[in-house]
Amino acid sequence: MDGERKIKIALTKGRIEKEAVKIFERAGVDCSEVINKGRKLIFHNMESNIDFVLVKAPDVLTYVEHGVVDVGIVGKDTLLEQDKNFYEVLDLGFGKCKFSLAGLKNSDFYSGYNRKKIATKYPNVARSYFRKLGQDVEIIKIEGSVELAPILGLADAIVDIVETGSTLKENGLVVYKDICSISARMVVNMASMKMKKEEIEKIINKVQVQINEMEKAAR
Ligand code: PRP
Repeated sequence: MDGERKIKIALTKGRIEKEAVKIFERAGVDCSEVINKGRKLIFHNMESNIDFVLVKAPDVLTYVEHGVVDVGIVGKDTLLEQDKNFYEVLDLGFGKCKFSLAGLKNSDFYSGYNRKKIATKYPNVARSYFRKLGQDVEIIKIEGSVELAPILGLADAIVDIVETGSTLKENGLVVYKDICSISARMVVNMASMKMKKEEIEKIINKVQVQINEMEKAAR
């Protein structure tokens, strides 16, 4: 432990934080303060020389890119949406869901020649999907409850995250096309990867061992 440099880790608040904490605990990092956090947002763990900070998903990469934290735990959806610099080092295997194109059950998205309107919280992901298809669409940015957009007639379809599919189903929407799979990832600041190589590799390896064990147990 002596001489080891401190590693700051940004966790995405909420579901990802809870799953990540389980893995860190299994890897021998005491996360009891994070588990019983109240409204606290920053946690110093003297024993393992790790600090955890809790932030919203889009802010994880901002902190990582600026180097004020060394490591981030965040969904692949955020990585795909944001144009930031970082190393993506691990697929953590939880937070599994997908990006899909979806819309009203009885509407034929693929018919007609009109320029389609797409509502989404992820404009860059949607733009890049349709650009690859060579289809010119209008992207409308929505902050949440995107499923409402086709129902209210704001858009012809949505690009959104589908996990269980129940939000789509309960609102009369169906998947038209799956775009890509998503799961939680570990990312590392580019300078930290060089300057704190030993400490960061140790964390990556510890977490990788736990992911392998959990995957083996789930089989
Ligand atoms: C996400 C997503 C869908 C829903 C999908 O929304 O945008 O609405 O989860 O999950 P399901 O397939 O299991 O139903 P979130 O809960 O993040 O809230 P939001 O709609 O306010 O973004």
